[in-house]
Amino acid sequence: MIQSLPGFREFYPAECSLRNHIFRVWRGAVAAYGFVEYDTPLLEPLELFTEKSGDEIVSQLFNFEDKGGRAVALRPEMTPSLVRLVGARVNSLRRPIKWFSIGEQFRFERPQKGRLRSFYQFNADILGVEGPGADAEAIALLIHILCAFGFKAEDFQLRLSDRDLWMYYLEAWSIAEEDRIAVLGIIDKMARRDREETAKNLKPFLADAVDDFLSEVEGLVAIRSLAELEAFMQKARLQKRDLIEERLATWRELLATLSAMGLDPYFHIDLSIVRGLAYYTGFVFEAFEVSGESRALAGGGRYDTLMEKITGQALPALGFAMGDVTLIDLLSEKGLLPKYVEALDVYVVTSGEEPRNAALKDIAALRAQGVQVEYALKPAGFNKQFKQADQLGARYALIYGEEELARGEVTIRDCSKKASFACPHKDLGNVLKAILEEGYWPE
Ligand code: HAM
Repeated sequence: MIQSLPGFREFYPAECSLRNHIFRVWRGAVAAYGFVEYDTPLLEPLELFTEKSGDEIVSQLFNFEDKGGRAVALRPEMTPSLVRLVGARVNSLRRPIKWFSIGEQFRFERPQKGRLRSFYQFNADILGVEGPGADAEAIALLIHILCAFGFKAEDFQLRLSDRDLWMYYLEAWSIAEEDRIAVLGIIDKMARRDREETAKNLKPFLADAVDDFLSEVEGLVAIRSLAELEAFMQKARLQKRDLIEERLATWRELLATLSAMGLDPYFHIDLSIVRGLAYYTGFVFEAFEVSGESRALAGGGRYDTLMEKITGQALPALGFAMGDVTLIDLLSEKGLLPKYVEALDVYVVTSGEEPRNAALKDIAALRAQGVQVEYALKPAGFNKQFKQADQLGARYALIYGEEELARGEVTIRDCSKKASFACPHKDLGNVLKAILEEGYWPE
């Protein structure tokens, strides 16, 4: 048998049901924040990502030439496409633009725990708003979603960092503008590499200053409070003092807003988060399981310059994405996976040709009313039909026998209570509705 590709999942009904649960929680939570849904093509021109996403994602692209000779790629993320969509109608869209999407993404990564080649991502982005109020809204939404899945502050933490501050800091160390993203890439992987390797990778950018730089950076990434961050920035030999002061003021504003929202238990400062994507500009953040051993549950941040790069028109923007893979791992670990139950409202049992024909007519009418109904597709004995009703988890059985029908009745049976009563055939629709919707049962 031909197997599915590595890193691609198959969704049996139980997995589909879980996926639907996740999508439902995502949709329910984001609706409370007033975001509206959008979608973009799965297949995009290759250059949309090669130019905008950064080297790491580009090395993971599923790309090929289509039959028209175009260089195309399956989308590895939503952000560049979103920016193109918004950019094309930027002047007619009501602001702030608060959009979300749920969709499949593709990255040619080595399949491992928490990482697949195809996965679902929930994206929420806010465009057209400067200032930390919008950052706080996105962070609050991310925390709200994780809480809506049943996680508590002891289960996950959002780590908050700042790409602008990093850029000023790297500039102060005389790292050339074109090298800064590469240096951040090395810092991003610092925790997973030994110190020697990090130093070796940094050497081309810092020459003899590598050790001093690395020691200071180790101090920077250990910072957990604003007071420590302010003290560090005071002490560090930085030139752009006014820009740094401005950034720290923005930090104070963001933290005060998050505090007022009651979110203090859910996040902490962690400058080791620099994000792999090239387009981030200001605050960046990732959410992790508390032990921090697994891959991130979600990540995002500001990308104030991407719109201008793609469309030529500037528009501030920020957002985040949450994947379903690490989310499912954590739901399972914390016992928060919903139970998969196959349930059915009504199973219709018939005996004889005439009752079966009467039942078929009623089944069509009940289904038209939205009642979930199943019956034996091939005529079968009573016992076999009851067994199937049981296997399908039917809550009620309708029994169409020749004698009942001759009396103008249908028997309604509560399968769990094993109780039955005879219902006038003409009232069946209304009685069943009362039973299913209001829990009616005759004395
Ligand atoms: P990202 O950090 O590349 O950001 O991905 C966000 C989330 O998608 C990750 O935290 C993870 O849950 C999930 N994810 C990423 N790659 C994989 C994979 N190979 N397998 C399973 N899950 C994965 C972005 O994609 C940005 N575009 C997010 C964003 C939106 N920034 C601003 N707006």
